[in-house]
Amino acid sequence: MQFKKIVSFIVFIILLYNCDSQITVKQAPQILPMPSHIDSQKGEFILDNSAGITFDKSFKVSATFLKEFIENGSSIRLKQNNAIRFIKDESITNEEGYQLTIAPKQIEIKAKTDHGAFYAVQSLRQLLPVGLENSTFSQMSVSIPSVTIKDSPQFSYRGMHLDVGRHFYSVEFIKKYIDALAMLKMNTFHWHLTEDQGWRIEIKKYPKLQEIAAFRDQTLVGSFNNDPQFDGKRYGGFYTQEEIKDVVAYAQARHVTIIPEIEMPGHAQAAISAYPELGCTGEQIKVAETWGVFHDIYCSKDETFEFLENVLDEVLELFPSKYIHIGGDEAPKTHWEKCPNCQQRIKDEGLKNEHELQNYFITRIEKYLNSKGRQIIGWDEILEGGLAPNATVMSWRGTQGAVEAAKQHHNVIMTPTSHCYFDYKQSDNADEPLANSGGFLPLEKVYSFNPIPEQLSEEEARYVLGAQGNLWTEYISTEKQVEYMLFPRIIAMSEVVWSPTENKNYPDFIARLEQFHKRLDALDINYANHLYEVEGEPGPNGYELKTMIKNKTIRYTTDGTAPTINSVVYSEAIPITKNLMIKAAVFNSEKRLGAIFKQPINYHKALGKKITINAQPSKTYTGSGIQGLVNGISGSDTRVNDKEWLGFNGVDLEITIDLGEEMEVKTIETRFYQAPWQWIYAPKHIEFGVEQQGINSNIKLSENDGSHLNVSLKLNETTRYIYLKIPNSNLIPEGKPGAGHKPWTFIDEIIIN
Ligand code: ACM
Ligand code: ZN
Repeated sequence: MQFKKIVSFIVFIILLYNCDSQITVKQAPQILPMPSHIDSQKGEFILDNSAGITFDKSFKVSATFLKEFIENGSSIRLKQNNAIRFIKDESITNEEGYQLTIAPKQIEIKAKTDHGAFYAVQSLRQLLPVGLENSTFSQMSVSIPSVTIKDSPQFSYRGMHLDVGRHFYSVEFIKKYIDALAMLKMNTFHWHLTEDQGWRIEIKKYPKLQEIAAFRDQTLVGSFNNDPQFDGKRYGGFYTQEEIKDVVAYAQARHVTIIPEIEMPGHAQAAISAYPELGCTGEQIKVAETWGVFHDIYCSKDETFEFLENVLDEVLELFPSKYIHIGGDEAPKTHWEKCPNCQQRIKDEGLKNEHELQNYFITRIEKYLNSKGRQIIGWDEILEGGLAPNATVMSWRGTQGAVEAAKQHHNVIMTPTSHCYFDYKQSDNADEPLANSGGFLPLEKVYSFNPIPEQLSEEEARYVLGAQGNLWTEYISTEKQVEYMLFPRIIAMSEVVWSPTENKNYPDFIARLEQFHKRLDALDINYANHLYEVEGEPGPNGYELKTMIKNKTIRYTTDGTAPTINSVVYSEAIPITKNLMIKAAVFNSEKRLGAIFKQPINYHKALGKKITINAQPSKTYTGSGIQGLVNGISGSDTRVNDKEWLGFNGVDLEITIDLGEEMEVKTIETRFYQAPWQWIYAPKHIEFGVEQQGINSNIKLSENDGSHLNVSLKLNETTRYIYLKIPNSNLIPEGKPGAGHKPWTFIDEIIIN
């Protein structure tokens, strides 16, 4: 009796100890990207020192990864036994597919290839405690809930790009980048190695690429405008061939293929600065110090091809990838038009123009690479002047390039700026760092991407190999900043290219992402966290607030003070009866979680009143519709593609506002955007008055680059109808981007008082 009691007590203590030492995951498995099928079962597998791994050597990469992940991340030491088994299964048809079965006695990983098994391991990894990611897991056993996962990717090409030309990052960081890709089941790293601002790959035959082309004397500070400032600091670097071999081997051990990009004929200013004879003019130029598109491109003479073939010979030695990216984008033909060598080439080859010369250029390089057993990828400009016979097109200027290429039965990879350019801002919050202002790409937009353009038939859609996120780095000078722009958008992209469409669900994705933050923290990844940001918009009953994640508590103020844990909890639309400064944030029971959202509301006489315009805004700049001009909310100070600015291309606007009844109107205020490099000009004058009575005053607006033009018109009339005529500005003058075209007009809130 006494003995039994002691035994029960010991068993009780052991159970208690086990409860404490085991991490039991209670929710359904939270895996990113979402697998095709997950079937949770009862029971759990205990991973501890008694477990072991067996695998045949065809699963070496994936089994080694798993063993190292467990043993580097914890004190658990694996044996050689059958507890975790890798099994070759030819019935799994997808080369990258797998089946992962976790049962109380065994974990089985079935795949046709090591590549598929590697993805089973990545799913299994996400079922293990995050402490294994950074070796902070101190316990001797892990409980993994029983589950069967059957999974395979939607697309065979799942890529992420990194521009190391504008800014240069360490080998160690490139490896961290590749680690992130592998974790998310991305299989391609597009390494953009040459740029106007720096050549980043050692080419032994051409030492001046290292001495000269890899460094610039200084760098533009801030964003590009009419008064550029430079930092005066020499900047640069390059990867040695030894380092590149090391990175390629590192990627191979994670089933990531590296596709190197050697840009031609454009984006070649750094190479031409080292070897001026590669250009058309032969003039000595500098490695570029600003951002943009440059006129010094490779000349089409034989000597350039000799150079490029020699460069490519060394590139091919380093990179075993089937594909080599040869660029092809943004190559102005201004020098080719004047160059005797290029004009001779056009004659000799019977070409029509410089576009066909670009096709000659790309096709000649393609032939060379095909002869070495490789295929080319080029940006969609390679469609202009005819497509090289075997080229794969990377569609970035929208999806039209993809549609054309697929219809010509060429493979395509989708990277349209609209959904794939991670150098754009991901939030409107005032704290967001400087970024490429050409677009706006929040997480949800990435997630919503469908890589198959709707114009393609099912047959043509087969030419879409997949999609890729691009990270251009003009404004990304640090590695932490790369991570910020990359995460979490790369996770959304991983689900776009991996998960079946029917499994995609944004709220569910966001919930999994919130959990995943802990893993990213453990990996020391500086992700952007906008999950707890408040968003707002005017609704029928006032101003409405919401958050990306449901069921969070929003607290707010309307008097301009910062919201605190004691502020009013948001439960219904905030009525607008006077000017307000709404400030809101998400709180838990102890503290504020996200950034403070700020929204001034301008209460005025035209608020919510009927407004009519003679023209429709351009499809891409519709804001929140025409009523958005009298919704009390002004547009962004930094971008026009928001919910408030309306954009019109080349039309004279006539606007009528119906106040519903006669009232005294003193002033009409609005503002226009002025950004000549985006073809956007404020009107030269505005006519305004009360409708039909033709009060006409001409207001002169001076040209004023780079700001919004605030307009305040004095009416001082009693009227029901207000009339505004806003003529489109003159044709864009010579010397400005878009010269000779009609400009854009962008107009913001019209405030009547
Ligand atoms: C590109 O963004 N120039 C491909
Ligand atoms: Zn030339």
